[in-house]
This record gives sequence, structure tokens and C-alpha cells, in this order.
Amino acid sequence: MKTLAIWTQKGGVGKTALTCQLAYVLRARNYRVLVIDLDSQGNAGAALLRAEKAVALAMTTASMLMNGNAVVDVPDIVFAVIRATPELIRIPEQPDEFSRFHENFQTNLAHVTSAFDICLIDCPPSDDLRVLLALTVADFVLSPIQLNQEAIEGIVKTLRGTRGVERIREKLNPSLQFLGIVPNMVEATPLQKRNFVEVLESFGRYLVLDKQGNPLRILRRSSIAEAQELGVALLELGRTKTAARDAWAELSPTLERIADLLMAEVDHGA
Ligand SMILES: Nc1ncnc2c1ncn2[C@@H]1O[C@H](COP(=O)(O)OP(=O)(O)OP(=O)(O)O)[C@@H](O)[C@H]1O
Ligand SMILES: [Mg+2]
Repeated sequence: MKTLAIWTQKGGVGKTALTCQLAYVLRARNYRVLVIDLDSQGNAGAALLRAEKAVALAMTTASMLMNGNAVVDVPDIVFAVIRATPELIRIPEQPDEFSRFHENFQTNLAHVTSAFDICLIDCPPSDDLRVLLALTVADFVLSPIQLNQEAIEGIVKTLRGTRGVERIREKLNPSLQFLGIVPNMVEATPLQKRNFVEVLESFGRYLVLDKQGNPLRILRRSSIAEAQELGVALLELGRTKTAARDAWAELSPTLERIADLLMAEVDHGA
């Protein structure tokens, strides 16, 4: 099992939507998928469980951090969620416990590693201890951004902040790979176009590219939010709604490309 953290410090940029919709795509490829909801808001778990697309494991994310023996038994489930609970919010208040949380997390992940091919961690919009723990156990990071004014500042923090990807790689997890940045909720406004040019100039090499070498991006489409609200894959919503079908036609190549890149790394034992 390889682990992908979906993280940007900024709130509301689509981390959870990307986690869930990517999870459906990986499931459609028949990988055994585990999603860990690390955000006490619990949005990823709620969305994946709402329409019973995934099954909740008995342990919670908080127990995985706080208890070294959280995994008693892993049932034979191909699409599982480890749910967030309100006590997750207490993790950042205990910085002195970092080593213990880290050890517990790693031990518990080791217990589920043969049951799943890929683990996605939906991170909270912060750079607190929870994110530090996720980035320390993860193999890969993927960062959705929004092309608004603070996008650039957000990327700088995500990459180079005191708890940014580069620092974690240096200090705690040398094998952490940055899969890249994916602009989300993209609209053809002058502001977004200007910001995109700026992102390209300053951070072009961090953008996830399609096969032709063009940056991936996800358009703002209300069907994506609707699919998330219903707790289903956009593909599934597209079977009954034309707008969702069109949105899926646009989104699908992006998610398939991310899945290609991720699983190529996984299959080659990155
Ligand atoms: N491309 C998109 N087009 C339209 N709506 C989207 C898109 N991506 C995400 N959304 C919606 O925008 C809202 C915020 O997205 P989401 O919850 O995934 O962001 P987040 O980064 O996880 O937020 P938080 O930081 O609070 O965890 C949700 O209602 C989601 O369904
Ligand atoms: Mg979220």
C-alpha cells in the first residue's frame, strides 16, 4: 500500500472533493482503496459513506494516532474509510506527543498495508500536527489550489513553509514525493487567467502535466459539488444528468492522468 496525502494549507480549495473523486477512479480500476479522513470536519468520510460507496473501518483516525494497537482486525473490504471524529482536533494541542503519534500511525498503517493498494489521506486546511503526521508517513503529496489572489502565497507555504513539503522531506521523510499542484474551480475570468500566468512563471515545474505536457486543471462545475453532496462519483451522477455527464467528460482525463502518474509510481515500487 502506498499513501497519498491530499493537502494544501488553504481551506475550501477542493481537497476533499479531489480525494473522493480520485478514490472512485482508483476503485473503478479495481485497486483496493483506503481513505483516511484526517480533518475533524469529517467531510471525506461523510461523503464516501453517505451513499454507502465505502465502508467505515471500526477504528477512527484519532485512534490510529493515539493508540498503537488500533487495528485489531481488517475485514476484507476493497473500499474503506477511516473516519474523523471530533477528538482529532485535540491532536495539534499535543506537540510533545509527536513521536508517539507518529509511531502509532506508522504501526497501525503497517497493519493495514497488505489489505489495500492505495491509501488517500484527506488533510485539514492547516499545517498543524495532523498534517505533519500525514506528510511524515506519506509517499506522495498532491496539492489542489484555487487561482485566487492568495494562491501564490499558499503554494509558497505548502512547498517551503516551516511545515511545507520541502522541509518535511529534508527533516522527517526523505522519500516524500511531490506529485504536484492542480488548479481547481478554474474559471475563465481575467483574474484567474492573470494568476494562472503567475503560477506558471513561478511554479510551472510543480504543476501536474497531461501527456502532452499541458498543466492539468479542474473547472468549476456545480455537478462536482452536487456529486459530493450526494456522496457519489461524478461518473455515476452523469448517468442521469446531462450537466454531470458533460462535467465528467471534462474531469475524467484529469483524474485518470493523476491515477496514471500515481499508480505508475506505486507499481514501480517508488
Ligand atoms: N471543481 C469544482 N467545481 C465546483 N465545486 C467544487 C469543485 N471542487 C470542489 N467543489 C466544492 O467546493 C466546496 C469546497 O470543496 P472541498 O470541501 O472539497 O474543499 P476542501 O479543500 O476540502 O475544504 P476544507 O479546506 O474546508 O477541507 C465543496 O462544496 C465542493 O463540493
Ligand atoms: Mg476538506
